[in-house]
Amino acid sequence: MSETHIPVLRNEVLDFLKPNPEGIYVDATIGLGGHGFWILKKSHPTGRLIGVDVDASALVIAEKRLHVFEKRIRLIHGNFAQLRHLLEEHQINKVDGVLLDLGVSSLQLDTPDRGFSFQHLGPLDMRMDGRISISAAQIINKSNPDKLVKIFKEYGEEHYAKQIVRHIVAKRSEKPITSTLQLAKIVKDAYPIKTKRSKAFTQNGQKREIHPATRVFQALRIEVNAELNNLDIGLDMAVSVLKPGGCVCVISFHSLEDRIVKQRFRHLAKTCICPPKTPICICEHQQMLQIVTNRPIFPSASEIEGNPRARSAKLRAAIKI
Ligand SMILES: C[S@@+](CC[C@H](N)C(=O)[O-])C[C@H]1O[C@@H](n2cnc3c(N)ncnc32)[C@H](O)[C@@H]1O
Repeated sequence: MSETHIPVLRNEVLDFLKPNPEGIYVDATIGLGGHGFWILKKSHPTGRLIGVDVDASALVIAEKRLHVFEKRIRLIHGNFAQLRHLLEEHQINKVDGVLLDLGVSSLQLDTPDRGFSFQHLGPLDMRMDGRISISAAQIINKSNPDKLVKIFKEYGEEHYAKQIVRHIVAKRSEKPITSTLQLAKIVKDAYPIKTKRSKAFTQNGQKREIHPATRVFQALRIEVNAELNNLDIGLDMAVSVLKPGGCVCVISFHSLEDRIVKQRFRHLAKTCICPPKTPICICEHQQMLQIVTNRPIFPSASEIEGNPRARSAKLRAAIKI
């Protein structure tokens, strides 16, 4: 990563986490170490950071970037859905802040061999964690049509899911679909003539044109890596390892992720979950969080200008009660 790399919503994340020298922080998606670097810098000289990532190759880069912080940084290869267990293995119980910066890293997107991008020729892989057994190619070639339609509709919100799946099924019966560009072309060809470019809304409601394969690739990536399920569990894990007063920050990149974060935060911030009109509270639900971003935080126009990938980002934060 270049020294000029500025992680998404960096200042906003630091404002919420307030890294200090007495603190222990978890960057549960350490990636290339962008946010991690700043958390360590701001908690100088004794603050500690645990960096977690499912992608072993990201950890190699994070290690190169963060080794200057010596014993203050520890990197763990693992899934944030197992965060509590991962920390216990390293004799850490409670921490002062947790960051989840969801989605793919620029390393994953820009390495054609990983198969995440419909713009580069590569194998149809998309596994963030090399230990996962099922790749995107296996899903595309082996799943029954109904399952593919469901994946593209649910995880990609793809309007033309049925048409696309019909094309996929026809093409895969001729020969297996094994490359990113092969799939991107099949999806593009399946789109109605007038709609060769698709439209999407960014998280702050702006309309932009996207390649027709964008949603199918997003859907496949989510399916391969069980991203939404991991997020659901990962949020509970993050809250469970926080000390009272500790902060959890989540940066999401599409509405499916953001909905999960919003709903989980709201649930954990409720004092009572009894049905309305119940005369006295019987639920024994415990409020765990106080939400500190009533509305999500978006990157500024100047951040988006410098880093177009930031345009879809949304930050939500909450404090452990
Ligand atoms: C957007 S990048 C993080 C970038 C990082 N904040 C930086 O500034 O360099 C997201 C990272 O999260 C990782 N990741 C995705 N799902 C994960 C999970 N369930 N557990 C741990 N890491 C995950 C990906 O492998 C990727 O490296």
